Amino acid sequence: MYANFVSSIDGIVALEAGTAPSGGIISGRNEADRFVMGLLRAFADAVLVGAGTVRAEGPRALWTPEFIFPAATDGFRALRHSLKREGEPRLVIVSARGELDPGHRALQVGALVLTTTSSAARLRSVLPSVTEVRAVSDTDPIDVHEILQLLKADGHHRILTEGGPRLFGQMVANDQVDELFLTVSPVVVGQKGERSFGLVHGVDFGRTPKNGRLLSARRHGSHLFLRYRLEAAA
Ligand SMILES: NC(=O)c1ccc[n+]([C@@H]2O[C@H](COP(=O)([O-])OP(=O)(O)OC[C@H]3O[C@@H](n4cnc5c(N)ncnc54)[C@H](OP(=O)(O)O)[C@@H]3O)[C@@H](O)[C@H]2O)c1
Repeated sequence: MYANFVSSIDGIVALEAGTAPSGGIISGRNEADRFVMGLLRAFADAVLVGAGTVRAEGPRALWTPEFIFPAATDGFRALRHSLKREGEPRLVIVSARGELDPGHRALQVGALVLTTTSSAARLRSVLPSVTEVRAVSDTDPIDVHEILQLLKADGHHRILTEGGPRLFGQMVANDQVDELFLTVSPVVVGQKGERSFGLVHGVDFGRTPKNGRLLSARRHGSHLFLRYRLEAAA
């Protein structure tokens, strides 16, 4: 699995306790960052996000390559064709509580929602039928291994996660993220209490931090584009 985030200089990725559509604000809607997001989506079989990210984004958001960078639509399609990945990457949303807006455009065009047994029946009754709801587990949170096994069984091998920080934290904790594409935007956001949070939220690696190895560093103006390999625990 690979991951893509944009962070401020001071390491903030989510504003207003995770309820704001933070990426665009932090990146300044930077064109190069949006192109990289589109390119990473174009390589994916599936784009995996937590429900918090879906709730924070506006109801018109889609997790497709061309939605984020329309100018490269033809190029993204040609790339997917050459990779034998037809159509759009499958949007996969993880939610235990199942609080999703049935009118959200991403659910109207079709997604896969992975949830708990207790939320599945209600979600099936309210979400559009093009969106598939699967009960993955009785537990909250759902074990990330169960999520990944299910995606693999569906034929999704190249998985991009765009977080958010809560879902990403669990994936890193379980050594499931191979590479991180991190844009550092030249802004300082600040932090007061729990109003903002960083790349990982809700998981503390304490004195045994996860190690990253820098694979490449590029810049576009004052934006930095970093690609890390995340090392699995020994
Ligand atoms: N800067 C960036 O690049 C970037 C990228 C992505 C997101 N963000 C920002 O991050 C903020 C959202 O942060 P977040 O950490 O709350 O987002 P998140 O990880 O997308 O969402 C957390 C929610 O996802 C569901 N979830 C996560 N792991 C689960 C599991 N193992 N089992 C069952 N459900 C699970 C739960 O939903 P339920 O509550 O429905 O059970 C949980 O409350 C927003 O402001 C967003 O804009 C920023």
